[in-house]
Amino acid sequence: MRSRVLQVVTGIVVLLILIQFFPVDRSVPSTEADKDFLNMHKPNHETAMLVINACYDCHSYKTNYPWYSKLAPVSWWMQSHVDEGRENMNFSLWGNYTDNRADHKLEEAIDLIEAEEMPLPVYVWAHSGAHLNEQERKELINYLASLRTYHDE
Ligand code: HEC
Repeated sequence: MRSRVLQVVTGIVVLLILIQFFPVDRSVPSTEADKDFLNMHKPNHETAMLVINACYDCHSYKTNYPWYSKLAPVSWWMQSHVDEGRENMNFSLWGNYTDNRADHKLEEAIDLIEAEEMPLPVYVWAHSGAHLNEQERKELINYLASLRTYHDE
């Protein structure tokens, strides 16, 4: 019985070591600084920090990776969020969006922040710095709303 447990534990350890040889691709394409959302709109420092801390890790090419994000399988799971986040909305490519598209993303962002679905709760759980309190949510929502070009009532 004991040797069986030992076998399983050894198997798991070996597996955890082996998967470290499958790192994720974190390379990012070079982008033009003047297409970056914050460079384009230049919000005040406080608002810019809200966007950076709460959204930029997944919705831009300026991702800050914590040390544990290097460890598989955490690394795979995190990178999938980052890739999916960038695919849906990328603040580093904001200048490529048509007015219509940008407006639509702003509208969705406002809804998701309001519903506390963005930043992703699982991410906030690990990054307390990304947590938005009610005041910060309001501030961010008001700011994003001020950038909207089409105001549908
Ligand atoms: C931990 C990663 C992560 C963080 C941080 C994050 N997002 Fe997301 N976001 C995602 C992922 C993954 C998706 C796509 C899947 C989904 O909708 O749940 C997404 C989708 C979105 C979408 C939908 C875009 C579309 O067209 O469908 C918007 C808008 C959005 N996020 C806004 C934000 C805003 C604003 C913030 C900061 C307040 C933020 N997100 C923070 C990962 C993240």
